[in-house]
Amino acid sequence: MKAILAGNWKMNKVADEASLLISELKEGLSGMPEGVDVVVSPAFPFLASAIIQCDRSRLSVAAQNCHYEDHGAFTGEVSVPMLKSIGVTYCIVGHSERRQYYAETDESVGLKMKALITEGITPIYCCGEQEAERRSEKQFEVVERQLDKALSVLSENEKEQIVVAYEPVWAIGTGLTATAEQAQEMHAFIRKQLGPVGDTVPILYGGSCKPSNADEIFACSDVNGGLIGGASLNAGDFLSLLNSLHKYKGTK
Ligand code: PGA
Repeated sequence: MKAILAGNWKMNKVADEASLLISELKEGLSGMPEGVDVVVSPAFPFLASAIIQCDRSRLSVAAQNCHYEDHGAFTGEVSVPMLKSIGVTYCIVGHSERRQYYAETDESVGLKMKALITEGITPIYCCGEQEAERRSEKQFEVVERQLDKALSVLSENEKEQIVVAYEPVWAIGTGLTATAEQAQEMHAFIRKQLGPVGDTVPILYGGSCKPSNADEIFACSDVNGGLIGGASLNAGDFLSLLNSLHKYKGTK
C-alpha cells in the first residue's frame, strides 16, 4: 500500500515563501530514505512554478480544488485540463472548509473526482464528521453517507485511483487530534466501506497532526499517511512528520 504525506497549504504563502519552503523541503529530502510519496499544495498562482521547481525531485504538486467542467463560463474557477496542462498530479477535493464556505457537496465532489481521474490526476477526497456529529455518535453514519454519495458516480476502476483523507472537522486547525483508537477505528470502517478497492486505496489522516502526535497516528495499521495543514507550512515540522511516517510505513 502506498504511503503519502501531503501538505495542505490552504491560503498561505506568497510567491517567495512558497518557493523557499519547496527549496527547504528538497534539501531536507535529499538525505532521507524513499518509500513515501511527498506532496505539496501551493495556491493556484504558484502551481506552475512549483512544478518546475519540483522537477526531478521527490515532491509532487497538488492543487487544492478544481471545477468538474472542462471549460466555460465559470468565473474564477480552474478546470482539470488546465491543471493537467501544467503537470499537476494530485488534487484535494471535498475539504471541509470548501464544504463549509463554498457550499461544496458530495455530488459536485464526485464529479470533480471523475474529471480528475479522466485526466490521470489523483483526487485526495476529504471526508469527516463535525464535532456535534461525533458527540451524538453519528460519525460512522456521516462518513458512510459522504462516501456513498461522492463515490456513486465512479466505476470500480475509477475508485481504485483515489486517495481518501479522513479529517474529523473538530480536529482541523483546533489543536485537538483524534486519538489513535478513533483514527484506527474510522480508517478501518472507511476501508470496509470502500469494498474491494479498500485493499489498495490509501487512507490518510488529517486534523492537527504534528510532530508530537504523529507517531501514534502513523503507527495505526489502517492509516497510510497524513494530510497536513498547519504543520506542513514549516519545513522542519513537515520533514519530522515524514520521518515518523517513514518509520511505520516506509516500505511500499
Ligand atoms: P490541520 O489541517 O493539520 O491544520 O489541522 C488539516 C487539513 O485541514 O487538511
